[in-house]
Amino acid sequence: MIAAYSATSQARVNAALETLFTAPSPELARLYEAMRYSVMNGGKRVRPLLAYAACEALGGKAEQANGAACAVELIHAYSLVHDDLPAMDDDDLRRGQPTTHKKFDEACAILAGDGLQSLAFSALLDPRLSASDAEIRLQMVSALALAAGPAGMVGGQAIDLGSVGLKLDQKALEYMHRHKTGALIEVSVKLGALASGRAEKDELKSLQAYAQAIGLAFQVQDDILDVESDTETLGKRQGADIARDKPTYPALLGLDAAKAYALELRDQALHALRPFDAAAEPLRDLARYIVDRRS
Ligand code: IPE
Ligand code: IPE
Ligand code: MG
Ligand code: MG
Ligand code: MG
Repeated sequence: MIAAYSATSQARVNAALETLFTAPSPELARLYEAMRYSVMNGGKRVRPLLAYAACEALGGKAEQANGAACAVELIHAYSLVHDDLPAMDDDDLRRGQPTTHKKFDEACAILAGDGLQSLAFSALLDPRLSASDAEIRLQMVSALALAAGPAGMVGGQAIDLGSVGLKLDQKALEYMHRHKTGALIEVSVKLGALASGRAEKDELKSLQAYAQAIGLAFQVQDDILDVESDTETLGKRQGADIARDKPTYPALLGLDAAKAYALELRDQALHALRPFDAAAEPLRDLARYIVDRRS
């Protein structure tokens, strides 16, 4: 089920994303090429899938969440381009290909990331991508700005970089993960729910509890895969966290306890979805997928 749902959703978001990279003038061809390279290179599209699945869980049509799906993937792609820069994680491989600064150059990668961030907000407001009313769009822009910004993802990245070589306790590690990765995953679910035009307060609360649990689980699993997967499967260098002495869950708790924690978070997420009917099955499958995935 998850395989078919993923394939359909990936094709839907890829088709929508593909429309966003036409350079308005020949002088900008390289910048647009770098942005396109950073996005259209085969990511798993987990955040768009979550946006579609949340929209459908509330009885919306997946297409209503196209703007949300593009927006969260664009923010994610920008965060990866910057995360891989020499000043940050200094990685040369992403999604099985050279990182953007390796393929182009550092200045181009910085600007491509900046550009992708702005494009995300344009996508959210693009009437070709979603027809939500003005009030809902305002809520979406505001939620995305909060989640992506210094009180969300950017803040988490700042803590991550400030913690290299330090021994964080579990509370500090959780705080970092909830910000650097959890915030964008949470808002992916929220934007999808808002895009349905049917989100009630109670439902948003349950979806938030679900999203908080899988948001943390996603980064715990990312940390686990850095230890036990391989570069070929991951499409990024295995062992990069260990090599850089990054604070991670396996480093803090040990591999077995980190795995048990990921499963506990999955169960918390499934529990939060109890009020929902069969329309939330893709969200349930995604919670299972996030901790079972091998890449
Ligand atoms: C990797 O994200 C970076 C994290 C936030 C942990 P993904 O595992 O979703 O990467 P792609 O998009 O599939 O390449
Ligand atoms: C990335 O975390 C989080 C963001 C880009 C916001 P990681 O540094 O663990 O991601 P990978 O392992 O390089 O994909
Ligand atoms: Mg990083
Ligand atoms: Mg990294
Ligand atoms: Mg990682």
